Amino acid sequence: MSDAPVITVDGPSGSGKGTICSYLADRLQWHFLDSGALYRVLAVAAQRQHIDSNNEAALVNLAEDLRVEFKVTGAGSLVAVLLDGELVTDAIRTEHCGHAASVIAPIANVRKALLARQRAFHKAPGLIADGRDMGTVVFPSAVLKIYLTANVEQRAQRRYKQLKEKGLSANLHQLCAGIAERDARDSTRTEAPSKPAKDAIIIDTSTLDIDAVLANISELVRREIPSLSNTGG
Ligand code: DC
Repeated sequence: MSDAPVITVDGPSGSGKGTICSYLADRLQWHFLDSGALYRVLAVAAQRQHIDSNNEAALVNLAEDLRVEFKVTGAGSLVAVLLDGELVTDAIRTEHCGHAASVIAPIANVRKALLARQRAFHKAPGLIADGRDMGTVVFPSAVLKIYLTANVEQRAQRRYKQLKEKGLSANLHQLCAGIAERDARDSTRTEAPSKPAKDAIIIDTSTLDIDAVLANISELVRREIPSLSNTGG
């Protein structure tokens, strides 16, 4: 196993994890694992093969044989996602896909099947790992564990803005309900529930803008990993 440092950033969707992780991966020039994308690709693959979310055996087989590639296309965090060689970068970002990923994610053997793939991202010079159980299960010995959170309304607002900026239709009330439903499923499941690790630093981003969160995290990185000077912020 690599002894390169790992920083984990866990938390619910819309908490700002993606933006923070991209920033850190770019600044530090470290590898980046978007573990949610892996669950999302599995959901797309299952849908394409008409595998029902109750069919555990088929889902586990699919997870074991999943032909997924993450191709770095620019700075560390810009990644194209391919399933069976086909670009699915945008297809995995829909609300529908997030929901489908959350429905299959509680299956213990599915999670087990995806574990080695996630740990394979752990390479020098370091790794930024984004997800729900990065600090608790996948990289328990990470040098810095961050748990980002924000209230549901704020997260729904952010998602609404993102969708509108992309010219897509969005309904704030539906987004709020969808996020709350996904939170409940992700955090109450028995297997690797979404929760802060005991040694995680919890940051509530509800009332913070992105620059404030970045400054806060850059300071934590400087404090916890003094050997890194190029953390910006
Ligand atoms: O972070 P995201 O919204 O892309 O994740 C999609 C779903 O995948 C999320 O609702 C739950 C699941 N997931 C998980 O169970 N464990 C992870 N480490 C990452 C995501």
